[in-house]
Amino acid sequence: MSITKESELIGMKRISEVVGTTLKLMREYAKIGMSTKELDEYGGGILKSYGAKSAPYETYKFPGYSCISVNEVAAHGIPSKKKILKEGDLINIDVSAELNGFWSDNGGSFVLGKDIHNHQPLVDASKNILHKAISAIKGGVKIADIGFLIETEARKSGFKVIKNLAGHGVGRSLHEKPEDILNYRVKSNRERFQKNTTVAVETFISTNSTIAVEQNDGWTLVGNNGGFVTQHEHTILITDSAPVILTEANGIWN
Ligand code: CO
Ligand code: CO
Repeated sequence: MSITKESELIGMKRISEVVGTTLKLMREYAKIGMSTKELDEYGGGILKSYGAKSAPYETYKFPGYSCISVNEVAAHGIPSKKKILKEGDLINIDVSAELNGFWSDNGGSFVLGKDIHNHQPLVDASKNILHKAISAIKGGVKIADIGFLIETEARKSGFKVIKNLAGHGVGRSLHEKPEDILNYRVKSNRERFQKNTTVAVETFISTNSTIAVEQNDGWTLVGNNGGFVTQHEHTILITDSAPVILTEANGIWN
């Protein structure tokens, strides 16, 4: 969305702090032996305590408050009583919500407990690439150039990117224009980031796959070529210089 007055900035800051704090608390709450349903209900309770509503539920009737994707699930994992967290699991939590008509989105991947499956390099690559990408965004920068940066950095780290998942505008709804802040360059896309707008920038860094494929449940996405995918996401306000990281409270870079 385009921020034209102080009240809009305050609204975006407020919901961004809510989703950021919820993500951070959920990450800290995740324990070996816990189901993803229990983790989701904990997060749903936090959103409720702030008066915020789950964005995926409100927008798409997603069967959960947040998306919790474990191991081979690349994104849009449905919280389930049957999915029990184990040592060394690669977990992604994506929290997005609405408060007073403002929407914000953030997410992050992490390894639970000891990194017995050596997922940390993939997690670190995603985290670092998001940082580099966001640091390069200001008003007038081409969206395609940020895609090129993400793809290039992923390759330098020995990884690939998922091509059919993307960041997006956010603010007055969960997904708005610009619709595709992709993790690779589409040369024909001449669209530029605009000052005083809010967008969600997210990485999708992968070991083997380049396409996320929907499963029969209509939600769960897995890689077309197996392996693992990590995602980190912030909602930011674009300026003339460094962006304002609205979801900073999530602590994903710490
Ligand atoms: Co998200
Ligand atoms: Co998003």
